[in-house]
Amino acid sequence: MGRRPLSDPPCQGYCKTLPSERASRCGAISCPGIVFQQPANPLLLRMIQQRDRGGCQQAAQPSVASLSSRTLGIGGPGSGEVNDNWYDRHILPYLLEIACGVKSVRRQREKVVPLAEGRVLEVGIGTGLNMQHYDRSRVTKIVGLDPALQMHRLALKRIARAGLEVELVALSAENIAFDSASFNSVLITYTLCTIPDPVAALKEMRRVLMPGGRLIFCEHGRAPDESVSRWQDRLTPHWKKIAGGCHLNRNVPALLVEAGFECKLMQTMYLPGPRPLTYNYWGEAFAV
Ligand SMILES: C[S@@+](CC[C@H](N)C(=O)[O-])C[C@H]1O[C@@H](n2cnc3c(N)ncnc32)[C@H](O)[C@@H]1O
Repeated sequence: MGRRPLSDPPCQGYCKTLPSERASRCGAISCPGIVFQQPANPLLLRMIQQRDRGGCQQAAQPSVASLSSRTLGIGGPGSGEVNDNWYDRHILPYLLEIACGVKSVRRQREKVVPLAEGRVLEVGIGTGLNMQHYDRSRVTKIVGLDPALQMHRLALKRIARAGLEVELVALSAENIAFDSASFNSVLITYTLCTIPDPVAALKEMRRVLMPGGRLIFCEHGRAPDESVSRWQDRLTPHWKKIAGGCHLNRNVPALLVEAGFECKLMQTMYLPGPRPLTYNYWGEAFAV
């Protein structure tokens, strides 16, 4: 089976942006159709080796995915407190697949993801549920950032099907190792609730956005009804233990403003389901 030529040679982005790290730290592991860059981080390397032992299912697919070695944030400061326990590795990704894949959430994705254009940074790409909703005629490249390696494995399958150029980066949003003003759009869906320091992360998103670029978001968060938000406050300490650090009670517009964004066209509503879990905010925000 023929190998599709890569538009990014191995290590290109990594070595350009982090000149202190040498290309020799990266090697290429390849399957026909997809090339992954081998990371210096042993955790990520282990995951890739496991994947390779299971064989490469993506061989016949037409897209290009590179798994970047910008893994310096994992386990260190600003690494997003990603756990590597059994539950988080084997159960949580599948629970998130179910919860984030329901019809009402899919409809939300359909409203926001096609707005992304040009060079896109998707923060907290998770298992890649947004992949099918991108407008291919508007997007040139997607960088998918997520510190949780257990999510990457599932995301790779969707990336392979999407026919888009995607670079997966194992890094936290609080410390984005990309140049300032290097993306046309930043997309974030159902991720702000989980990021340990959401304001720091949003400031980083603002930094990497080009002038005039937009943050496209769809998040669940604090409900306007006091009876609901009281429950959100009560439940959050317990909920976040089983839901990968998810906070039910974050005030999305307040966080955006605190990070220096101006919110435009924001809409809100409860999706079907338990009210403390389903109050949604979506729209676009611009750097002020
Ligand atoms: C509920 S999932 C949503 C995934 C995806 N955005 C979606 O819409 O299906 C939250 C995601 O945020 C990621 N995440 C957690 N902490 C993060 C951080 N500090 N920086 C970036 N992503 C983070 C998690 O690993 C997880 O994949």
